[in-house]
Amino acid sequence: MNEEKERGSSLFEVRRENSMLAGRSSREAIPSAVMTRAHREKLQLCDALEKIADALPNVDRLKCLGIANAIVPLLRNIHQYEETIIFPAYEAATGGSNNIASTRRLRAEHVEDECFAGEVTEILLAIGHGERVENAEAVGFMLRGFFESMRRHIAFEREHVLPAIGIIDQGAI
Ligand SMILES: [Fe+2]
Repeated sequence: MNEEKERGSSLFEVRRENSMLAGRSSREAIPSAVMTRAHREKLQLCDALEKIADALPNVDRLKCLGIANAIVPLLRNIHQYEETIIFPAYEAATGGSNNIASTRRLRAEHVEDECFAGEVTEILLAIGHGERVENAEAVGFMLRGFFESMRRHIAFEREHVLPAIGIIDQGAI
């Protein structure tokens, strides 16, 4: 258990951390390590999807299955963490209607990304289970639309949201 803590927070344990942190309100309570790791994992997912898109119509079916199984739970956990811990802290720290509008947009993007992730999962599962890639261009276009949108979302959070609440993401420097 202690060893697990030392390795850093797993995104799949975010729910537990949320409940532990729910009663805290100071900036010091915001776990920058969790957020840095969350963005890193999302960017790794983007890189993996880009590799798949670049290699089309050739595919690594096992890799497609692995990503298909991880993508939705990963996004849901990260989004839940941001929406319950990070965004409220950002709104409290900065105030102002512009920032409220920003978090509203970011929350809407989370919903869109999760819907999109469901579609990407279906495609990757089909490919992973042996279906031929009939239209590589269309699949590539879909994958690129998904990961490019996620990268833009992450860049905004790193440049605007996290610094405002005292989190400096080293990966963004
Ligand atoms: Fe986000």
